[in-house]
Amino acid sequence: MRDSINRNIEYLRVSITDRCNLRCVYCMPEGGVPGLSHEAILRYEEILRVVRVAAGKGIRKVRLTGGEPLIRKDIAGLIREISAIEGIDDLSLTTNGILLGKMAEGLYNAGLRRVNISLDSLDPERFRELTRGGKLSDVLDGIRRAEETGFDPIKINVVAINGFNDDEIREFARLTLTKPYHVRFIEFMPVGGIGIWDDERIITADRIMGKIAAQGELTPISQGGQGAEKTMAGGPAKLYKLPGAKGILGFISALSNHFCQSCNRLRLTADGKLRPCLFSETEIDIKTPLRSGCDDAELSRLISLALAVKPEGHSIASGIKDKHRRSMSKIGG
Ligand code: GTP
Ligand code: 5AD
Ligand code: SF4
Repeated sequence: MRDSINRNIEYLRVSITDRCNLRCVYCMPEGGVPGLSHEAILRYEEILRVVRVAAGKGIRKVRLTGGEPLIRKDIAGLIREISAIEGIDDLSLTTNGILLGKMAEGLYNAGLRRVNISLDSLDPERFRELTRGGKLSDVLDGIRRAEETGFDPIKINVVAINGFNDDEIREFARLTLTKPYHVRFIEFMPVGGIGIWDDERIITADRIMGKIAAQGELTPISQGGQGAEKTMAGGPAKLYKLPGAKGILGFISALSNHFCQSCNRLRLTADGKLRPCLFSETEIDIKTPLRSGCDDAELSRLISLALAVKPEGHSIASGIKDKHRRSMSKIGG
């Protein structure tokens, strides 16, 4: 599927719940955000219908996100169904890892082969503060179980925030020396009017790389694709390796060097809106037509409409101050 500026859109991020079992300080206010009602959330059959129609139009990659996707009932059933959709050749999940230890095997058996796990501190006390109550050992257990079960690759997402975890960057990077993980550092993004946002909190990917360079030379890993045809097919991260490392380091410079020109994605929110861009408030309601019996041709038309209005780029580096914007947990990152 091509959008209005000829980007190849082949990746659908599906948020299956806005709820979460953690309250990360950069994502949610302390009291959480009011959850959507059961009725407001797309049912699995509705999600599957959208994915089927999207796959027919050229979507080949699907990511399940949240909130925290693993807290929604019978996610394994959803995974089994999506895996069976013709044309979907890459299905993945972004999770906080808390429930992964218990669920890894069931997810694998349902057809999931890779996971991205959010982890922002390796210190139990700090992790508890950052997530407002999370237990680090649960996540580490989840990562271990995922590895034992055979998930590959295992990607670890670290949102780098000055004054929170900047002093742990090297330790996270060192993880790749002994483990085959992709450790990806993500620039903090001003999404959703979150309380701790401050320009001072940003650490650019260049600065993160500078800190890691003391550890050893960073060798870039080629991701294929050049010029106009370069896409985010391999993900938004620029990849590197430390000497002798088993794993890979990734840098997601969402702010300092935005990758909009190669963006390949569309989002579906838990309450049934197609969202063409993480940073634009433009959304297309797909739930109302779904529930009023529209046919697949109408769904297909709405997906095309979302592509037609997908913005060329964003200017979030200047900050988003509007508190009414959706929080990250309601978009799925
Ligand atoms: P892979 O296919 O495994 O590379 O997935 P991914 O990196 O796209 O997914 P993940 O959910 O792990 O997202 C990693 C980080 O990239 C999160 O902080 C996302 O918010 C951010 N991200 C994902 N898509 C976009 C995007 O379209 N624009 C921007 N600016 N950031 C994005
Ligand atoms: N800036 C950058 N990344 C964020 N995430 C959540 N909120 C933010 C933010 N404000 C990350 C989560 C998760 C991914 C989906 O998005 O840590 O790994
Ligand atoms: Fe939950 Fe993810 Fe938001 Fe943390 S970042 S509160 S784990 S949705």
